[in-house]
Amino acid sequence: MHTQAQNTYPPGPKLPFPWQFIGRPFANLPDTFLNLAAQYGDIVHFMLGRQHIYLINHPDFIQEVLITQQRNFTKGRVLQNSRQLLGNGLLTAEGEAHIQQRRMVQPIFHREQINKHIPQIIQLAEEMSLRWQANQPLDLSAEMTRLTMNIIAQALFGTTIDAQTPALSNAIQVLLTTPHAVLRRIRAGSNKREFQRSQAHLTAFIETSIAEHKNGAGQSDILSQLLHATDGQGCLLGQQQIQDHAMTFFLAGHETIASALSWTFYLLAQYPQIAEKLSAELDSVLVGYSPSAENYSQLEYTKMALTESMRLYPPAWIMGRQAQQDVTLGGYHIPQGATVLLSQWVTHHDPRFYPNPELYKPERWLPAARAVRPKMAYFPFGGGQRLCIGEHFAWMVGILTIATVMQTWRFKQIPGRRMTPEFTVTLRSPNGFYVRPIPIKL
Ligand code: HEM
Repeated sequence: MHTQAQNTYPPGPKLPFPWQFIGRPFANLPDTFLNLAAQYGDIVHFMLGRQHIYLINHPDFIQEVLITQQRNFTKGRVLQNSRQLLGNGLLTAEGEAHIQQRRMVQPIFHREQINKHIPQIIQLAEEMSLRWQANQPLDLSAEMTRLTMNIIAQALFGTTIDAQTPALSNAIQVLLTTPHAVLRRIRAGSNKREFQRSQAHLTAFIETSIAEHKNGAGQSDILSQLLHATDGQGCLLGQQQIQDHAMTFFLAGHETIASALSWTFYLLAQYPQIAEKLSAELDSVLVGYSPSAENYSQLEYTKMALTESMRLYPPAWIMGRQAQQDVTLGGYHIPQGATVLLSQWVTHHDPRFYPNPELYKPERWLPAARAVRPKMAYFPFGGGQRLCIGEHFAWMVGILTIATVMQTWRFKQIPGRRMTPEFTVTLRSPNGFYVRPIPIKL
């Protein structure tokens, strides 16, 4: 019986997985997974201690996990660490609680609601662009983080973070960069204390903002919409739920976009002919004006450039699920309790779907090229009922920022500085991601 079960395991390394990533917990994982996929195929099995892990590397099976068989998979233990920061917000809620919460907050993220933030987004992007100085080395990563933090704070709380103390932005950086592994291991260490101080700081900021909104501040921001969101019976969200949602949207909603934008500008610096093509589109659609709600959907090549950049550098590079019961996938038996991993990094670099996968080529996203590719060969925002709720917001901020910046600037790579991705829970652009901005109109 035991032998028979072992025979049904998909191929994979037979030794327990070498867990040598402590300290830099994710640094080598993405390429290790790429190699496992290349060596063993579409479903790879390995053990991590006593835990069965299945790495899923084909879009059809990814579709099964996220969509067709989504009821059989939950986030399970994958989420336990995030709860201490995000409470029971949308990213971390499960089952009925998730469905109910999602239903209540979904209207806030409808296209027409989100489009109302367009003028503020453009204003913040223009202010940033005006601050830059020609030819002076610019830390793109820091600039994009500051911009997207201000954009999400403005949309969520009706205020920018620059207007608050620098301690708050420091606190946010600490929360985003402290790896879960560190939190678990160093229970009383200084990392953990700094993390807790930062968490308390951000929580206090959110609590104050909620109190001010209850007293009438903010009319059209997301927080005021959260305060008025109701379920089918007219019940409002509780104080803790509002706090958890605000914390989740704030933290999930800016570092990811900052990473996507940094890598896009970096790629455009390396591929000047693509930057020129993008400029030509901006000239013909915007004719020198700022983008608006009316014409931003016409920026098709700009969108293709961003799509392709999130293929090469997906801000969320891996997702995990836990099998709720015994499941069959691709002819293999996956036992209840097993962990299933889906990696955007691996699938987005698969040469079966993207010939010459390392090449930055926005034309891969022309309708004819898209049509022959399986749907889930590209899933930067996940899929199924847990699809990213901020997807439209992210596209909008991304496209509008690229359009605003590229109307004024080109970027030149600084010789000798090769940027390598920094993998944590998400793929971040490393600090000190320097380029030189060159004005296009003198
Ligand atoms: C480029 C930017 C972004 C990327 C790549 C991204 C990626 C993702 C992915 C892959 C998931 C699914 C996780 C899973 O199923 O395990 C997700 C979920 C989520 N994202 Fe995003 N995200 C981005 C921007 C945003 C923004 C702007 C917000 C909010 C303002 C946001 C809020 C959320 C929330 C609340 C969830 C959980 C949804 C649910 O389970 O119902 N994200 N995101």
